[in-house]
Amino acid sequence: MSPVGINVPRADGPSKVRGDAQYVDDIRPADCLYGATVRSPRAHAKILEIRKDPNFNWAGITIVTAADIPAKNVVYLMTEDQPALAESVVRHVEEPVALVAAESRDRALDAVRHLEVITEDLPAIIDPRHSEGSEIKIFGADNIFKKIAIDKGGTTTGGTVIEGEYSVGHQEQLYIEPQGMIAIPREDQGLTFVGSMQCPFYIEKALAPMLGHTRMNVIQAATGGGFGGKEEYPSMVAAHAALLAIKTGKPVKMIYRRDEDLRATTKRHPSIIKIRSIVDHEGILHQWDADILMDGGAYNTLTPVVLSRALLHLTGPYRCPNQHLTGRAVATHTPPNGAFRGFGAPQAMWAVERHMDRIARTLGIDPVEIRRRNLLRDGDTTATGQTLTDTGALTVLDEALAAAQEPLQNDPIHPGGGEGRYARGRGVSLVFHGCGFTGNGEARIKGKVALELDGRCIKILTASTDIGQGVDTTFPQIAAAELGIDVERVSNAPHDTANVPDSGPTVASRTCMVVGGVVQKAAKQLRQALQIETASEETNFDMLLSLRDHQAPLRVMAEYQDDGSMEWEDETYQGDAYPTYGWSCSVVDLDVDLDTGEVLYRRHIGATDVGKAINPVIVTGQLEGGSLQGLGYATCEEVVVDDQGRMRNDRLTNYIIPTSLDAPEMVTRIIEIPYKGGPFGAKGIGEIPMDGPAPAAAQAIEQATKIVLDTLPMTPERVMNALEAVE
Ligand code: MOS
Repeated sequence: MSPVGINVPRADGPSKVRGDAQYVDDIRPADCLYGATVRSPRAHAKILEIRKDPNFNWAGITIVTAADIPAKNVVYLMTEDQPALAESVVRHVEEPVALVAAESRDRALDAVRHLEVITEDLPAIIDPRHSEGSEIKIFGADNIFKKIAIDKGGTTTGGTVIEGEYSVGHQEQLYIEPQGMIAIPREDQGLTFVGSMQCPFYIEKALAPMLGHTRMNVIQAATGGGFGGKEEYPSMVAAHAALLAIKTGKPVKMIYRRDEDLRATTKRHPSIIKIRSIVDHEGILHQWDADILMDGGAYNTLTPVVLSRALLHLTGPYRCPNQHLTGRAVATHTPPNGAFRGFGAPQAMWAVERHMDRIARTLGIDPVEIRRRNLLRDGDTTATGQTLTDTGALTVLDEALAAAQEPLQNDPIHPGGGEGRYARGRGVSLVFHGCGFTGNGEARIKGKVALELDGRCIKILTASTDIGQGVDTTFPQIAAAELGIDVERVSNAPHDTANVPDSGPTVASRTCMVVGGVVQKAAKQLRQALQIETASEETNFDMLLSLRDHQAPLRVMAEYQDDGSMEWEDETYQGDAYPTYGWSCSVVDLDVDLDTGEVLYRRHIGATDVGKAINPVIVTGQLEGGSLQGLGYATCEEVVVDDQGRMRNDRLTNYIIPTSLDAPEMVTRIIEIPYKGGPFGAKGIGEIPMDGPAPAAAQAIEQATKIVLDTLPMTPERVMNALEAVE
């Protein structure tokens, strides 16, 4: 029986349940030192001095500053603007200024407390609305990291003009395990890195300019979650561990404290979105003009790509003949924002869905009906002119609404639910999400996968890390299904850049759909190399292996190749923006506590088109986890910053995310509209569950209380203020 579509137990499950999975902090190389970071106290300032406390015992403490950097002072990503250590000027609070290594973590942290960064303030920009064209320069001539415009059709006259403004704040990825990395000197004067990460090859590329060589290999340790937060930031931690390892000649381990991780590392980009639409009396969209302003923070990081994805989702899953989409990502003197599950789409979708509600409200039409009348169908074109196939908008909407007919299984009892103190509501949202890299991205990257037959086992060699999303289970399922063999014979090899080909980063809802497709292709090649016509019989494979028993390992390599059907113009933003799209509908049932403003979730229903569920339990886990993260984004996750842009609520006691006790009943409906380019029809699903819950919650709050909230998060304070304003 094919292992695809079966709930094969997770390959990483037993070691994690037993507690013997090796996370970076469990790994202790001999003679390992501990590193810690000295950070900027100010948003924008000259560094006058790094002052050592003369009364502190500095014995055994190594200090590294920018002067110790072997080649270029840069951690390379898309541009060379971000230094490994600030040299003369700091551009954001908590920016790394110096490093220390000591024999214990306590000593290292103690040393940091006795190093004072003396600064002289320079004028700072904290508010992104004051950045563009300011005389205070942060990036380039105008403080703009990226500007994008997409035009479709022209303009329309007549109809009703409906305008709105929507905004979202920062959101923290809050992976379970904080950032952590070990740098180990190699005999060839190179370095081995072991750490918590999504993208091992990113670290090699990021560090080559700083080190002035490429003698590196990067090994992923067991990783306690990423959510985008371990896409690019681990390169910074690796750079610091490397500098300390070079200076001391010993392995150096850096593990961030939670509060440090919260204050210093990347977050979701805060955004302000304006939409002006023209609709007819039936609510059909005739024109859609939208503009997004994103706060990129002090350095470029991945901001241009996040802006790009936001623009490409700025019309939502709706058709409209005339569209004008514009966006700018600007620099501020705040910690750089970066990758976070959804990557620009949740910001866009929040605004789009709230605007659809505004249209419904203005015209007096049911919000679900407005969506049904405008949703994208096969043959429709997107803002970039991409003609859609395998669209699931209507199917997921109908499936979610059908599921919503069912009574709740575990209805929490809020006294007087729906009456008195508690107002009850239901909200519905509809979203889509582009799977894989944008435009020619996949064709440019050409993800590579190797398969190795050694003895009676097959190893899959990729850089696609398992960060909890289950790829160490699903890739073997794909390969085993293609080879027609038992899944237990197949496993992912450790993700060490010395041994695996570059399959591209573990991001962008691309791992299962794109890299999984290359795994399937490699399995086909292996089948041909073994001259298996139809590898359907496990016994045949056994026979074949016995013939090969004493031969050298057999290795095949496959590479991503697009089928030539995608056409994309990066200059004009025209064409096929993504290989395909996932579609999802959220229905949120909730009560609003009118005395406290607290939102109490009762149920989240998600119907999502996943193409094909390679492992339904893993898919369900991804969808439920992402939806809960979306509900947190909706009502409780708020980053509070001071006048220097420093996060003030840097603890889990005051940066609140939903726990399992806060989680409502989660109903997940898996819809399978196959994508022909994906393995067995699979589409990417990692990010889409993040997009829909927040706007569905907002609509439910509106239905329950009549209050209209267009700013995330909808905290009890914001709900109370709005309730009082209505009264
Ligand atoms: Mo992801 S937000 O594409 O690491």
